[in-house]
Amino acid sequence: MDSAMSSISQTELPEIDAKEFEKVVETRRSIRRFTDEPVPDKILNRCLDLAMLAPNSCNLQPWEFYIIKDPAVKKKLVHACLDQNAAKTSQALIAVVARTDTWYKHCDENITAWPDPKLPKLVEDFFSKVAKFQYALGPLGVLGLFKKGFFSIAGLTRPVPRGPYSRAEMKEWATKSTALAAQTLMLSLRAHGYDSCPMEGFDEKRVRKIMALPSKASVVMFVAAGKRSEKGVYNTRYRFDREKFVHTI
Ligand SMILES: Cc1cc2nc3c(=O)[nH]c(=O)nc-3n(C[C@H](O)[C@H](O)[C@H](O)COP(=O)(O)O)c2cc1C
Repeated sequence: MDSAMSSISQTELPEIDAKEFEKVVETRRSIRRFTDEPVPDKILNRCLDLAMLAPNSCNLQPWEFYIIKDPAVKKKLVHACLDQNAAKTSQALIAVVARTDTWYKHCDENITAWPDPKLPKLVEDFFSKVAKFQYALGPLGVLGLFKKGFFSIAGLTRPVPRGPYSRAEMKEWATKSTALAAQTLMLSLRAHGYDSCPMEGFDEKRVRKIMALPSKASVVMFVAAGKRSEKGVYNTRYRFDREKFVHTI
């Protein structure tokens, strides 16, 4: 069975070599030119399985990954990706898509896919009632507006959930989990000796049309993949100082 399930024991944790992880993180670069060497399907699928182990909101897995195989479709998408070299030379091109319309079905699937013999009542209630209320916006978003109003008032005296209460907030909700999966995909590719480039530089309108995406699906980014060519890294990597970003409060 194709599955994103981990084969590693969750109870007896294996020794982890942090240095190997550091190597993966530090050698991952955004690669803009790839060699002609293909990414084997087996490796790409493994990396996608690992990507789907990314943390995600309520395990509702609001993501999709489209491997662009059809050369004619790829040609159009490369053009829609503004003919970026990373897209043009990619040996695998993956559209990483966030969905705001799969959460309800996935609530039910969380119940049927529960891996242990007994489904805890708390979990059943969460996926059959709580989550279904939490993410529902209702016809024309009316329920979302109602929840926003209700929780704004309730929130005057106690902490309350502040969303998602609108389509835009649902998009943000789905995008967060999907972006984590995209990053896990890129790190997995690196761990398997392959490279990647995330791309948000694309004409969204054209991409939606080429891929015939439903309105509640949005391409979070394309991930171009392959083996880095000699001129694949455009510049020496640098970041600003930690002090600028890390705060203690
Ligand atoms: C959301 C996102 C979108 C990006 N879009 C593009 C893109 O369209 N084209 C590109 O060449 N690089 C793109 N990048 C790569 C960044 O430019 C790159 O990550 C950054 O310069 C740091 O370099 P590094 O990834 O090699 O560490 C994107 C990165 C992210 C996270």
